[in-house]
Amino acid sequence: MKKILVTGGAGFIGSNFVRYLLKKEANIEIVNLDILAYAGSLENLKNLPDPERHYFIQGDICDAELVGRLMREYKIDTIVHFAAESHVDRSILGPVPFVHTNVMGTTTLLEAARQAWSQGQNGHFHHISTDEVFGTLSADDPAFNESTPYSPRSPYSASKVSSDHLVRAYFHTYDLPITITNCSNNYGAYQFPEKLIPLIILNAINGKALPIYGDGLQIRDWLHVEDHCEAIYLVLKDGEMGETYNVGGGNQPTNLVLVNEICSILDTLQPTAVPYSSLISHIRDRLGHDRRYAIDTSKIEKKLGWKPRYTIADGLEKTVQWYLDNMDWVEKILKKKNYQAWLDKNYQQ
Ligand code: NAD
Ligand code: DAU
Repeated sequence: MKKILVTGGAGFIGSNFVRYLLKKEANIEIVNLDILAYAGSLENLKNLPDPERHYFIQGDICDAELVGRLMREYKIDTIVHFAAESHVDRSILGPVPFVHTNVMGTTTLLEAARQAWSQGQNGHFHHISTDEVFGTLSADDPAFNESTPYSPRSPYSASKVSSDHLVRAYFHTYDLPITITNCSNNYGAYQFPEKLIPLIILNAINGKALPIYGDGLQIRDWLHVEDHCEAIYLVLKDGEMGETYNVGGGNQPTNLVLVNEICSILDTLQPTAVPYSSLISHIRDRLGHDRRYAIDTSKIEKKLGWKPRYTIADGLEKTVQWYLDNMDWVEKILKKKNYQAWLDKNYQQ
């Protein structure tokens, strides 16, 4: 029976991964450590398959005593590390928590793993990172691959770069068995509505303006969260220690095209008198806004046989439908988390 510590497992990707793994593998138990910050919620962990193999602990990855105790008590042999401050706009308005959680938190976990696994027990530390570590691309640049030099441009991506470097340093210095995945923009069920796709869906169905930063011609590579979970699973099973794998969805619309696509899905699923696209509103650009990301996934395809299953059309339609079907989830999430205060702060012109 494998004992897996998932950090940040009450957040968007973490909760999808907990669900995915419990369903996929009968022979594992999950200890889920999450502080339940604004984007984390037990609402994301309802109706898990086989919930008796999942133990939720509310706590901080920066708490060395707690993390050390969990490693010993549960005899953890695998760590899948999602917990982070994850929103670029929040990092622009307040960088310090990003350094604290993403750098100190990751180091605390690495130390706990080093101590727990120093007696010869096999371990595996998998770190979830982002394509934003590579910086920004111009229209003609080739996609990011695993050798692209790091060039972060926001406090968020700079903190993720630091954590990636620390994870690699523990591999080279202490032989800690690590792997890293750098993935592109995830979307799907349970995403906190500060990120573009759920924000647009909710604003649209509430008849509110759909905020597009700048000209809206920025490009992201959209990856359905279930495809991401499968990639992480394959790295846990067959990934080579010390290696990094890039993960991306192969879908690269501009923000404007993507938002129009969401509007036309809503026009079909929940028609109104005027098309939803009439709500689109260009606002002041994000500071230091990265222009384009693109991911070369040939390594993980070749080495681990991974390929995304979702097209953007299928994934978006399923996601829009999920939000329409789960408005009770939306209400609970937004009530607790002081969401309106965030909107007022970020979108004031
Ligand atoms: P999220 O913000 O939805 O969830 C983060 C979770 O971490 C929350 O549940 C939160 O409560 C928890 N957390 C925060 N600080 C903590 C602390 N000190 N101790 C314990 N738990 C803490 O984020 P997400 O979108 O699910 O992202 C998960 C990971 O994936 C992050 O590391 C992020 O950098 C990375 N990532 C995300 C995307 C994306 O598109 N969402 C893409 C690439 C990489
Ligand atoms: O690339 C991976 C990264 O993707 C992850 O590491 C981050 O954790 C995740 O938050 C995401 O970062 P982005 O900044 O790319 O995602 P976001 O959804 O915030 O924005 C997507 C694009 O949409 C980006 O170009 C900014 C733009 N945008 C975003 C918001 C919230 C708008 O135009 N308007 C908005 O209101």
